[in-house]
Amino acid sequence: MKKTAGAELLFVSLAMPAIAAESSKPDWAYAVPVPGQPALPKIHEDGKLYGVPGSKLRFTRNKVQGLNDDGKRTRVVAADWFPGEHHRMPRIVADGDAGRKIVACALCHSPNGRGRPQNAGIAGLLAEYFIGQLRDMRAGLRHSAEPRKKNAHAMIDFAKAMTEREMRDAALYYAALPWTSWVRVVETDTVPRSVSADGMMLPLAGTGREKLGNRIVETPADVARTDLRDPLSGFIAYVPKGAVAKGRQIVTTGKNGKTLPCAVCHGQNLNGVGPIPGIAGRSPRYMARQLYDMQRGAWHGAMASMMKPVFAKLTAQYIINVAAYTASVPVAAQGKPR
Ligand code: HEC
Ligand code: HEC
Repeated sequence: MKKTAGAELLFVSLAMPAIAAESSKPDWAYAVPVPGQPALPKIHEDGKLYGVPGSKLRFTRNKVQGLNDDGKRTRVVAADWFPGEHHRMPRIVADGDAGRKIVACALCHSPNGRGRPQNAGIAGLLAEYFIGQLRDMRAGLRHSAEPRKKNAHAMIDFAKAMTEREMRDAALYYAALPWTSWVRVVETDTVPRSVSADGMMLPLAGTGREKLGNRIVETPADVARTDLRDPLSGFIAYVPKGAVAKGRQIVTTGKNGKTLPCAVCHGQNLNGVGPIPGIAGRSPRYMARQLYDMQRGAWHGAMASMMKPVFAKLTAQYIINVAAYTASVPVAAQGKPR
C-alpha cells in the first residue's frame, strides 16, 4: 500500500511542473456559446434579396448560409459575391458533396480564402502544408482541444470524406490566392459588450461597454456585412493595452529563453517559409486556439513536433500577447489577387 502511495506521489510531483507551465484555456478563442446568453436580433430577413458593396449580385440570407430558400440544406453551394475576382473554384470548394456530407469549403473559408475567426484563413498556404493538415485531420493527428467546437469536428469529418484528388484541387486553388490580412488590431481597456453567436463575438447593440480584461475580442468591423458573408468586410481585434509590444518581444527574442523566436521557422517577416505556414496578419483567435490546442497535445503530426519547444512554456498571458502581435504584423505583398 505504502509503496503505491509513494509511487503515486512521485508521479504527481513529476507531473506538476508540466501542468504548472501550461496555460489556462483561452475561452475567448473558442467562443463556445454560453447557455442563457441574450439572443441577438435578426439583421436580415429570410426570403428577401440583399447585396454587398461592389457586387452586382443579390442573394437571400438563406443562400448566403448555404441553405435553400425553404431553409433546408440539400445541395450546399456557397454564395459567391465576386465570381470575377478569382479563378474558377474546383467543385469540392464551390459545392462540396452532399452525398458524402462535405460542405463547400468556400462557405466557411470564403471563395477568397480569408476565412473567419471561428474557422481559418487558408489563402496563400503552401499546398504541401494545406494537404498535410487535411491528412493529419483524416488520420486523427489534429483535432480541437474543445469538444464543443462543432465546426472543428465537422472540418475533420470533411477531411475524412475527401479524396486525395479533392485535397489537391482545394489546396492548389487556395494556395494560388494571396494572403491579405483583414483584421485590424486595436489596444483598449473596454469593448462593446458582446456575445458569442455563430462562433463569433458579436456586439449587443445599445448595451454599452464592458472591461476587456485578459482576453482578445475579435468582432466584425461591420456586423451587417459579415452577416451576409461579405468576403471583403473584415474584423477588429480588441487586445489589452501593451499586448502588441510585449508580444513583439516574445516573438522576436523568445523572451528570456522561454520560447524560440518565431522567425527562426516562420520566416523573418513571419510570412512563412516553405511548408511552414505564415503567421503574420492572421486572426488572433485562430492563432491562440492553435497554440493552446498544440499545448494540449491536439496536434501530433510529424511537422507539429517542431512547435513543441515553442508552446511548452507559453502561459495564457503569452498567448494573448503573441496573438495580438502576430495579427498586427503586415503581410508581405504576394502578387495580385486572382
Ligand atoms: C463548417 C465550416 C467549414 C467548412 C465547410 C470547411 N472548413 Fe476547413 N476549417 C474549419 C475550421 C473550424 C477550421 C479550424 C479548426 C480549429 O480552429 O480548430 C478549419 C481549418 C482548415 C484548414 C487548416 C488551416 C491551417 O492553417 O492549418 C484547412 C487546410 C482547411 N480547413 C481546409 C478546408 C477544405 C479543403 C474544405 C472543403 C472541403 C474545408 N476546409 C471546409 C471549418 C470549415
Ligand atoms: C522550430 C520551428 C518553429 C518555431 C520556432 C515556431 N514554429 Fe510555429 N510552426 C512550426 C511548424 C513546422 C508548423 C507547422 C506544423 C504542421 O505542419 O503540422 C508551425 C505551425 C504553427 C501554427 C499553426 C498555423 C496554422 O496555420 O494553423 C501557429 C499558430 C504557430 N506555428 C505559431 C508560432 C508562434 C507564435 C511561434 C513563436 C512564439 C512559433 N510558431 C515558432 C515550426 C515552428
